[in-house]
Order: sequence, then C-alpha cells, then structure tokens
Amino acid sequence: MKKLKNLPVHIAVIMDGNGRWAKKRRLPRILGHREGAKSVRAVTEACAELGIGYLTYYAFSTENWKRPKKEVSFLMKLLNEYLDKEKPTLLKNNIRFNVIGGISRLPRAVREKISEVKKTTAKNTGLTMTLALNYGSKNEITEAVRKIAKEAAGGKIKPAEVNEKTIEKHLFTAGMPDPDLMIRTSGEMRLSNFLLWQMAYCEIYITPVLWPDFRKKELIKALKSYSARNRRFGGV
Ligand code: IPE
Ligand code: IPE
Ligand code: MG
Repeated sequence: MKKLKNLPVHIAVIMDGNGRWAKKRRLPRILGHREGAKSVRAVTEACAELGIGYLTYYAFSTENWKRPKKEVSFLMKLLNEYLDKEKPTLLKNNIRFNVIGGISRLPRAVREKISEVKKTTAKNTGLTMTLALNYGSKNEITEAVRKIAKEAAGGKIKPAEVNEKTIEKHLFTAGMPDPDLMIRTSGEMRLSNFLLWQMAYCEIYITPVLWPDFRKKELIKALKSYSARNRRFGGV
C-alpha cells in the first residue's frame, strides 16, 4: 500500500445503515447491529495501525431511545458483549478507551464495564477510541451552558471572560482536538445531532456503503478523499 499522506488526527464516524443491511438480507435488524460491531473492530484496528490519534463513534444517540424497546435492549446487550470481548484487542493495539454522552441513563452493568475498560486502558498511548453513548450535541451544549451559568452566578467566572475555550472545557470532548474528518455511512446527508460545535470546520465524507460493509478498504477510500482536500478555514 502506498503511504497515505495528510492523515486526519481525529476521525468521527456516524455508523449508519445496520438496519438496511439486515433488511436487504431479510434478516432481523439486530443482526445488522451484530455485523456492524465487526466493522467497529476492523476500522478501529486499521486506525490504530495507521497511527490515527482519535476515533469517535456515534453508537447511540439521545434520539435512539425512540426505537422499539427490544432493539434498544439488544443494543445495550451488544455494547456489554463488545466491552467484554474487545478489551484484549484494545490492550494489544495500545488503544485508550473513552466514552462521551449521558452515561447515567445506561444500564448499570454497562456503566460498570465502561469504567473498568477505561481504567485498564488509561495508560495506553496510541489511538484514543471514543464511543458516543446516549450522546446528543444539543444536550451536551445545554449542559455546558448550565455549568458555566452556575460558575458565573457563584462568582467563579465573569460573563465577559466566557470565550470559546470556556465552552470547550465544559463539553464531553474537553481535551480532545476537533474532528478533522467525519464519515457517515449509508448515504444520509445529515449530522443527526452529532458533535455540532466540534465539527464546525470538519471535512465531511458520506458514502452509500452500509456500516456493516464498511471495513478497512472503505476507510482507506475515505482517507484518500480527505488527503486530496484543501482545507482553508476561511482563508484563501
Ligand atoms: C445505525 O444503524 C446503528 C444505530 C443508530 C445504533 P441503523 O439502525 O440506524 O440502520 P438504518 O438507518 O435503520 O439502516
Ligand atoms: C445516527 O443514526 C445515530 C447513530 C449512528 C448512533 P440514526 O439512524 O439514528 O440517525 P437518523 O435518525 O437517520 O437521523
Ligand atoms: Mg439509521
């Protein structure tokens, strides 16, 4: 493989199309999610191998609670299984595991596993892999504003001192660089409440490929598209 140039530091992924993948095969939607979990493993390992710094997956949105109860509980079960099964893969690949989103609403078993995997991978120095769980960008920004307002009311900060850094520090993503590349699978042309603040200048790559079919080969295609772009950030 030719060496890829201009790799993004942070890749954000909206994994979409699991249901359609299953439907095409006349399978239940949950089998699409199961196959999608294999793509998570493949893409994560490929990113670790390529030396990508941050990889953030949209795994469950604040809006996804609207899905049938059975599908939601299957997704939680799958997450549980994933955390059990992938721990050795994360350790082997020097990956640091991280989560963003409203964790308190997740089942206790999942929460416990999350803190355990975070702890065991905390000293890893390679890729930071983040799962967005019960994540919604509007919720994240609202929470940040609430905390800043509280600090201002308590005299800890002056309103005139509130700047972009203040807001960034109060987001779930505090300390992480903004995504350089956002990949969305299955052709949908929307952000679905994902990292709205953080993606202000992100490059967007949308592919019709369904998430369960998105593996290393498709990732390389996205990276090639990214590396050919001219990021101007408002300049000339
Ligand atoms: C993405 O696949 C997985 C999650 C949102 C958890 P979908 O389940 O949204 O698949 P489609 O969009 O119905 O095909
Ligand atoms: C976005 O996918 C959320 C996740 C990938 C977790 P959805 O399938 O929920 O998004 P919409 O409903 O098509 O916008
Ligand atoms: Mg979808």
